Amino acid sequence: MPLQTRRRYAGAPENEVRLMVVAPIHPLDTKGRPIILVGLMGCGKTTVGKALSKRTGMPLLDTDAIIEEQIGKPIPEIFAEQGEAHFRALETALLRYLLYNPTPSPAVISTGGGIVVRPENRELLRMLGFTVWLNVSVNALLVRTAKSTNRPLLQNTDRRAVFNRLDAERRPFYKEAAHLWLEASCMDVNSVAVRVCEEAERFFAAF
Ligand code: S3P
Repeated sequence: MPLQTRRRYAGAPENEVRLMVVAPIHPLDTKGRPIILVGLMGCGKTTVGKALSKRTGMPLLDTDAIIEEQIGKPIPEIFAEQGEAHFRALETALLRYLLYNPTPSPAVISTGGGIVVRPENRELLRMLGFTVWLNVSVNALLVRTAKSTNRPLLQNTDRRAVFNRLDAERRPFYKEAAHLWLEASCMDVNSVAVRVCEEAERFFAAF
């Protein structure tokens, strides 16, 4: 399974993709292991992941994007055609793959919000690297996902009720899967990235 760590760079011709070389502001010795971000939809995994990637020079991977690329379909289509249980099995397969086939250089990994639902995924997340739960209030999640149209669990529904339910159901799962629980509702992206780097440094120093 080839993992995409390549991105288009600003100003590149339409059909050209090159390796993006970023000068890290704060390189981290993670002993080859990744930093993984978990949390509900809209909690900022992608945004924080980008900031962490820029800060550390580690490439950013996204489990949803990898699954979409491997299956060749967008997530809403996978949910509609194969069902949520199938999607969860794909997430497990990907975590196992990442555990047994580490990426060439350590990565920041942003995950889908429901990756913690399966017990084996929670165990895999703890084994894989340093896992961080971005804990954000339901009010903030509602604001941040207000314009979202590509999340099957938020389609044609009372979003507040969905978030309240997911928050109650998944809170214990995030706590179990993550090494760091970060109350991030009122933090700006860079402060979150700085804090995650500090904690990651402490975590990996123990190995
Ligand atoms: C899901 C979250 C989504 C995506 C899928 C299911 C969930 O990812 O994996 O729509 O169950 O919470 P994001 O958290 O990146 O939106």
